[in-house]
Amino acid sequence: MIKNKNSKKEPLESFETIEEVVEETPENIEVRKVGVGIDFGTVNLLVYVEGQGIIFDEPSIVAYDRDSRKVIAAGFEADNMTGKTHDKIKIVRPLRDGVISDIRAAKDLLKFVFSKVNLHASNSEIRSVLCCPSEVTQIERKALLQLPQQLGIEEVYIEEEIKSGCVGSGVDIYDDRGTMVVDIGGGSTDVGILNLGDVVLSKTLRMAGNFIDHEIIKYCKQHLKIEIGQKTAERIKIELGTVNEKKDVATMRVAGRDLLTGLPRHTEITSRNVTEVLLPIFNDIKNLIISAFKDTPPELCSDIYYDGILLNGGVSLVDHAAEYFTEKLGLKVRVSSNPLTSVVLGTKVLLKTRGHFVKDADTE
Ligand SMILES: Nc1ncnc2c1ncn2[C@@H]1O[C@H](COP(=O)(O)OP(=O)(O)OP(=O)(O)O)[C@@H](O)[C@H]1O
Ligand SMILES: [Mg+2]
Repeated sequence: MIKNKNSKKEPLESFETIEEVVEETPENIEVRKVGVGIDFGTVNLLVYVEGQGIIFDEPSIVAYDRDSRKVIAAGFEADNMTGKTHDKIKIVRPLRDGVISDIRAAKDLLKFVFSKVNLHASNSEIRSVLCCPSEVTQIERKALLQLPQQLGIEEVYIEEEIKSGCVGSGVDIYDDRGTMVVDIGGGSTDVGILNLGDVVLSKTLRMAGNFIDHEIIKYCKQHLKIEIGQKTAERIKIELGTVNEKKDVATMRVAGRDLLTGLPRHTEITSRNVTEVLLPIFNDIKNLIISAFKDTPPELCSDIYYDGILLNGGVSLVDHAAEYFTEKLGLKVRVSSNPLTSVVLGTKVLLKTRGHFVKDADTE
């Protein structure tokens, strides 16, 4: 089995007591900074605040008034406007395929979130960990670092989301056993091997939940002759999505625009239709995992053989996902108990280690 909280010698909760045991002297007064962990995903933005828990968990979307260029909504409110606005409102998703594509919108969204939540601290009293995909370039990394800094948060650490997601799933990444995690999110799929507190290697495919939605839209156009919106496609994926070809067929009624008449109409889509869309994408993810094993040292392969693979990210919730990879790879696979929140929950520990690969850096 994959190592989890319960099987470790030292429970993760021990980190929560660090503040209590560190004596407050002028030299270590910075320990009192409020830790803020940010998982800025392509689809969802989550913010964790020490002592408060997850205080924001909403879509990574911001809406602007085109004339004044002011933010008028963000998160769920902006998401509800998607696909339905008039030309005075502009909807922006700051991230694309896991990386920031609109830095101004990313900053505006974070600013909006910070203005809505009560952090009980000025921004200079905040220590922040920002999670990013594995394959960000140096330029993208710099842009990410600047985000909290532009809000006045000076102490910022960047951590890979596969690492944070592993920690937040209860895996002890700090021991000497290799762990494999596959994070299938909204914009990208990241496969990572972790050992001794850090990422040994990683591979990224810019293909995940959003790509599936677009493929469902394409499928509906080609086979059902109807054009549907992205939110409808996402609902189809979540409600009907399965990679189990033997599962009983389920159907769903969806509405959109008829491609021939141009008029609104409804149609029935089946889970078999969605499986047809999902299988080639899951096959690509399986090939990404295989390519990661090709570069993995044999000793770590041996650990993963015994401990299995951890699935993370929203798309790991697709019905039969773990079983699919087990069947194709012959390895144990399990889905994280909290695939949508584990990355931000992992920052709870990473805020203490501050970018270091040993877990007790804070007490040194
Ligand atoms: N039950 C479910 N079944 C299938 N897909 C789901 C389910 N729940 C959420 N998703 C999908 O998961 C994706 C969001 O996952 P997640 O929050 O992990 O992505 P993200 O962190 O925002 O993206 P990334 O890490 O790639 O930048 C969306 O595409 C969403 O539709
Ligand atoms: Mg993510």
